[in-house]
Amino acid sequence: MSGTVVCRLDDLTSGAAAKFQVGDHSIAVVRLGDDVYAIGDTCSHADISLSDGEVLADNCEIECWKHGSRFSLKTGVPQTLPATVPVPVYVARVVDGMVEIDTEGAAA
Ligand code: FES
Repeated sequence: MSGTVVCRLDDLTSGAAAKFQVGDHSIAVVRLGDDVYAIGDTCSHADISLSDGEVLADNCEIECWKHGSRFSLKTGVPQTLPATVPVPVYVARVVDGMVEIDTEGAAA
């Protein structure tokens, strides 16, 4: 399985999101310590960039800044209204200090 390198792990701030474009996919990449998560960047409720929202590290979630829906970084499933539809999640891994995203395989 091959992924697309988007950045160095050191380029990411733990507890924050960064937006990357991989092919047709806009992806919010979130680092929590040594773990990296990749989730569809567009909120399923409206056309809002989730990477502009707040990362809730304790719950492994990201909060849409517009109306406050919280999405699981592991599954993409909204944990709170008004969003009801999951956003996609992608396989993210760190190889030799570089962050790779695989848009072919689903993480969950
Ligand atoms: S646009 Fe994200 S919750 Fe409404």
